Amino acid sequence: QISEYLCKYKNHNFAIGYTTAEYIDSLQTFEIRDSDIFLVTYPKSGTIWTQNIIISISEQDTGLPAYLNNSKQMPWLEHIARNDVYSLRPSPRLFTSHLTPTLMPPGLKNKRAKIIYVMRNPKDNIVSYYHFCSILTCLETPTNFEDFLDQYLVGNVGGSSWFDHIRKWHAERDQYNILFLTYEEMVLDLKAAIFKICSFLGKNLSEAVIDQIVEKTTFKNMKNDPKANYQFMPEEMLKGQFMRKGKIGDWKNTFTVAQSETFDQILQERLGDLGLKFIWD
Ligand code: PPS
Repeated sequence: QISEYLCKYKNHNFAIGYTTAEYIDSLQTFEIRDSDIFLVTYPKSGTIWTQNIIISISEQDTGLPAYLNNSKQMPWLEHIARNDVYSLRPSPRLFTSHLTPTLMPPGLKNKRAKIIYVMRNPKDNIVSYYHFCSILTCLETPTNFEDFLDQYLVGNVGGSSWFDHIRKWHAERDQYNILFLTYEEMVLDLKAAIFKICSFLGKNLSEAVIDQIVEKTTFKNMKNDPKANYQFMPEEMLKGQFMRKGKIGDWKNTFTVAQSETFDQILQERLGDLGLKFIWD
């Protein structure tokens, strides 16, 4: 039974209000430019953080139009583009997406455009998502953590299954020009992560500029930056902040030992063969 807050398209769940099945389907003919830059994540994996980094790096080139908020500057591909015609945007265009490869524009294959994929350890991901459901009004507020965990495990949340998302992007990685990053490596060494992104994007920035971008994209500074922190969203849509804790290991304050052990087992069964290494604290 799918939540009434979600719509389904080709077995994928989307939050109602931002998109429609027809719109997602229309992306199959979306024209990709080699210069396009995509940030792809499962929700709550460090999306708006990396979005802010990519925008800050791109702003170093002249000609990037400045928008008042980051979601306009680097829009979600799957959200209906209101009053915006992406084919008229100058290159390089910046997009954000939570889609799996199955629903992405096929033109991205054959290593066209650039994709930065950010993954977060799933226990912190779940806890972050759990709290977010209580502040974003278009999502169903979970009754308790146990219930939310059950829904997450079966993929009955916006963005569908975290496990499928990770598996599909890893399985199809050879078809794309893709850089894999983790939320945890960004927390542990933001400067090194920004260097990696610059190098992938072919941007040769001075260390002084990189230092400024590090400063601009710390948790504390993003929290005080209305453009990065989505303060344009009215309170009836967002009853809190995207910037919550920004830490590795916060899951320990929510998961019980039993929930954590069961989760480890499920993770091993479902993704063990990928050999991924997670940083849990
Ligand atoms: S969304 O709704 O999918 O766009 O959410 P997303 O941006 O992917 O994830 C939100 C979490 O990312 C944390 N965040 C940060 N952590 C560290 N440093 C910086 N600068 C930063 N910016 C955002 C944010 O706090 C959410 O994690 P939690 O654990 O809930 O704090």
